[in-house]
Amino acid sequence: MKTVQDYIRTIPDFPHEGILFRDVTTLFGDPRGFRMAVDQMLHPFAGQRIDKVAGLEARGFILGGAIAHQLGVGFVPIRKKGKLPWKTIEQDYALEYGTATVEVHEDAILPGERVLLVDDLIATGGTAEAGIKLIQRLQGEVVACSFVIDLPDLGGRALLEGLGMNVQALCV
Ligand code: PRP
Ligand code: ADE
Repeated sequence: MKTVQDYIRTIPDFPHEGILFRDVTTLFGDPRGFRMAVDQMLHPFAGQRIDKVAGLEARGFILGGAIAHQLGVGFVPIRKKGKLPWKTIEQDYALEYGTATVEVHEDAILPGERVLLVDDLIATGGTAEAGIKLIQRLQGEVVACSFVIDLPDLGGRALLEGLGMNVQALCV
């Protein structure tokens, strides 16, 4: 039987020379692969209270929307700067290649809400760390950070675990 990893394609030198880009469009595009990924990401949280799912732009929206639907909870988009229409708080971060800023609506998470943070991949952990900070600044509690792919050599999991986070990933 195929595993989640089997559906992921690796593209060398995208978007820059030396980057091995993990392409999850082949996972998302397959009905069995996509369902398997969503089901496996949900599995560790069976029976736990989760109030919201927050997804990191852009591929975290696809996974996070499906996971929120399955849990019967709301979805919170954490977006690249300049995309959200209402009042936001923002957080700068460094990427494997470049720098960026993410934002969330200031009323998207209520104090004390338990939030599952979702993305397709963790590399350096900079994006996820920025998402965690935004959730915490709104006084949400990050229940866990859930990814399809962990690139452990880039140190993201260790960074988040150092912040006391529960980090879940389906494959490396
Ligand atoms: C990718 C990926 C994560 C992030 C991980 O997104 O989907 O969000 O990089 O890298 P990090 O752990 O080093 O921060 P990208 O920044 O390429 O944005 P996109 O999904 O909008 O293309
Ligand atoms: N984001 C950061 N590093 C990445 C990689 N190697 N593949 C896909 N997305 C990424």
